[in-house]
Amino acid sequence: MHTQVGIVGGGPSGLLLARLLGLAGIATVVLERRTPQYLRARVRAGLLEQATVDLLTAAGVGERLARERLTHDGVEIAFDGRRHRIDLKGLTGQTVSVYGQAEIQKDLMAAHEAAGSNVVYEAEDVSLHGLTTDRPRLRYHQAGAAQEISCDFIAGCDGFHGVSRQAIPQEVIRIYERTYPFAWLGILSDTLPVNHELIYCNHERGFALCTMRSLTRSRYYLQVSADEDVADWPDERFWSELKRRIPADAARMLETGLSLEKSLAQLRSFVAEPMRHGRLFLAGDAAHIVPPTGAKGLNLAAADVRFLSEALIAYYQVGRTDLLDGYSPRCLARVWKAQRFSWWMTALTHRFPEASAFERRAQAAELSYLIASRAAQTALAENYVGLPIA
Ligand code: APR
Ligand code: PHB
Repeated sequence: MHTQVGIVGGGPSGLLLARLLGLAGIATVVLERRTPQYLRARVRAGLLEQATVDLLTAAGVGERLARERLTHDGVEIAFDGRRHRIDLKGLTGQTVSVYGQAEIQKDLMAAHEAAGSNVVYEAEDVSLHGLTTDRPRLRYHQAGAAQEISCDFIAGCDGFHGVSRQAIPQEVIRIYERTYPFAWLGILSDTLPVNHELIYCNHERGFALCTMRSLTRSRYYLQVSADEDVADWPDERFWSELKRRIPADAARMLETGLSLEKSLAQLRSFVAEPMRHGRLFLAGDAAHIVPPTGAKGLNLAAADVRFLSEALIAYYQVGRTDLLDGYSPRCLARVWKAQRFSWWMTALTHRFPEASAFERRAQAAELSYLIASRAAQTALAENYVGLPIA
């Protein structure tokens, strides 16, 4: 079997790419390891830049998003027990949208189902071959039977733990990485969000984030040590720790309840360069990971997919190869700016166990500078709402 673009991974990156190419008449096959039920239930971040909303809309999956998203004009930063609002809209003219990634996943899967796209779930042992030839191939097993697809191009959209990046020889790929000595413990609950906007809290017991999925569903995170065990965090312990870390007026308002989900996420900064090898193009988490502070992961993935779809469409429609050649540098310029921002915002809001007294004082000074300086707030705001797509 032959297809034009073989796509490894059916997360947001892979399915969005397949949609944009499909709308331009380009044939794709998506190979996804998991079941549809698993993908629909996976809880991830949920804050979208306007450019991401626009891309999803262009891909024909903007209808429920437009109806159900919450638009936020600002965001709060809390420290020393006080809350400070950053007026995103006033400072940048732009807003951000709250809409869970699980919902985006469901919308994309439904759109593919309606369009009759070729999405193979439970594809096992996917492997990539002939990447530097003009006929790269994907091999896999489906229900025990060996399959092979030849492609014009392969898109590696299989996330951080996928096989695509591993298929690039070590001598041509360079890895830049930073790990953090803590993780985020998150819970989801059908309780009223404590505030109508997000609150990022710097507290001596550790960072906390108040966010939401809807007007009746809350999502909260606590900074915990990297080796923490979710089993040691019954709901009551989570809520009481959260109350200690958020400002007192918010703690008094906090509605607690049964957790619907509770999970641990390690924090990591990671970039693989280049994002292309021969006819393989990496997109999304397969090429880069950011710590979740600032919620850039999905937005960066969407920007990669936009650039890759533009490049492939220009190739098929008018024979241009310059956009394919420019793909990796174009993505990486944006990726590094988001890496810088996510790392900076993590450093500003978290407690680093190994920080010296000097570093703690400098962090406190940066927070008090931020709330007093319109210039500093503008710098935060323009990164938070998303840098322009160049
Ligand atoms: N074969 C087939 N599919 C695979 C393989 C494999 N060997 N390995 C991983 N996959 C699938 C995963 O099951 C997953 O559905 O690839 C998909 C990758 O999806 P994500 O990890 O969600 O990555 P991506 O689509 O790039 O999404 C962007 O940015 O920061 C994040 O939370 C954000 O996950 C979101 C992301
Ligand atoms: C979320 O809603 O899950 C979320 C929001 C903002 C972040 C991280 C996560 O910075």
